[in-house]
Amino acid sequence: MPRLLIWHAENKRSFIWRGLRRSPYVVLVSEFMLQQTGTKHVERRLPIFLKQFPNVKALAAASPAQVLRAWQGLGYNRRALYLHRAAKDLAGMRSFPKTLDALQALPGVGQYTASAVLAFAYNKDTPVIDVNVERVLSRLWIKMPDNRATLPKRELYDFDAAILPKGHSSEWHEALMDLGSTICTRNAPKCDECPLRRSCPSASMETSRVKQPRTEGLYFGQPRRIWRGRILRIVSNSESIPSRSVSDQLRKSFKIRGRGFASFVNDLVELLISERFIARNADGNLSLANE
Ligand code: ADE
Repeated sequence: MPRLLIWHAENKRSFIWRGLRRSPYVVLVSEFMLQQTGTKHVERRLPIFLKQFPNVKALAAASPAQVLRAWQGLGYNRRALYLHRAAKDLAGMRSFPKTLDALQALPGVGQYTASAVLAFAYNKDTPVIDVNVERVLSRLWIKMPDNRATLPKRELYDFDAAILPKGHSSEWHEALMDLGSTICTRNAPKCDECPLRRSCPSASMETSRVKQPRTEGLYFGQPRRIWRGRILRIVSNSESIPSRSVSDQLRKSFKIRGRGFASFVNDLVELLISERFIARNADGNLSLANE
């Protein structure tokens, strides 16, 4: 039994989604949530979401507005709409896809989510590389020059595929995730407590607490994605709304005084229309796109 799995048997984090019977649908929903929201919050919200939409069919039958409402507070609305579209596609299939390619053909499903479904729902021996796994595997494979360095994902897939204990993929990847978030952390790894320290070439690497530079610009005090979410929420809360009312409502709710706000909002509205999240009706008003 690999040392990491022995460590994990004693030290695993218990999360609600790990206790649930993990159908591919449950894994899909939980991974969509986990990509943008902290584990504590997902623990609270996942059961509520699953109660409202217990399976693919129930989610596919909902309207986009219902799904957005159920997603409120879970971050990027765009992902909720992708999840909804994915459910619609899945509802038309005879069975849940079981290959990376077929899963990645679903809206909003990239390599990570597809591989997570295969590993956590079907225990398939597929590499699953999230940020924690990326860091842990990089450090284990080659001595990393500092605590921020990682290897290219492509190389990590091959490395993981080679070392993952066959038939234990689900547990292996959760163990890597847990090690990465509790011991092999980014800034202050606790190498003394690590079960893999003896075979880890990076155990004595330099660590420096360098903050990631902020890459997102701020607009009226918030990143654009926050404004996008707010716009989508307002549009989803009414059947049809004039464009002007959207910026008026935002201006009021968030006490915006700066000039140029309406045109900033208009640009985002146009973007959301081009991305097919919202639609402009014949009368010029906005509604949630109905697909
Ligand atoms: N178990 C399965 N997927 C997970 C994730 N994304 N984060 C933490 N634990 C998980």
